[in-house]
Amino acid sequence: MAHLLIVYHSRTGGSRQMAEAAADAAREEIEVSLLAAADAQPADLIAATGYIFCAPENLAALSGEMKEFFDRCYYPILGQIEGRAYAQMICAGSDGSGAAKQLARIATGWRLKEVQAPLILCTHAQTPEDILAEKTIPENGLKHCRDLGQAIGAGLALGVF
Ligand SMILES: Cc1cc2nc3c(=O)[nH]c(=O)nc-3n(C[C@H](O)[C@H](O)[C@H](O)COP(=O)(O)O)c2cc1C
Repeated sequence: MAHLLIVYHSRTGGSRQMAEAAADAAREEIEVSLLAAADAQPADLIAATGYIFCAPENLAALSGEMKEFFDRCYYPILGQIEGRAYAQMICAGSDGSGAAKQLARIATGWRLKEVQAPLILCTHAQTPEDILAEKTIPENGLKHCRDLGQAIGAGLALGVF
């Protein structure tokens, strides 16, 4: 049975809103599990047939909690999910490329198949106060997330990946 797993981490709400938007759209196509990184287990990755990973960029890398999810799950399932489809969404202040590159390398290690280009949304927070403030992703950004979720959900449901 095709099944999409979305794993996310979010400190100030941006990535969570992105993950929820993708999940809502994907649910029109396929069964979806939406899990916070701290709760996602190796068995959840095994049970799914495709993935969306969504996290903030922190200090030019994946947020620590998202990295901890990958560190914890990497070896228990290595060799068991090869060829499955994935996409990633990064919430960043002004860049996001470091986190996206790091996530892509991890996915390559698992031999996952990237089926959409990374979606990076920038919140343009610059000052410490703005960076630490709760985020609201604008509608046009959420639309990109819904489009990505819908496309992956439909692709998995149809078995085209
Ligand atoms: C400790 C810390 C480091 C950050 N480093 C970066 C960075 O290297 N590049 C960037 O574009 N944004 C950086 N940001 C900004 C966050 O990516 C941005 O606020 C994003 O909205 C966070 O996503 P979230 O709302 O899901 O937590 C940083 C934020 C924090 C708290």
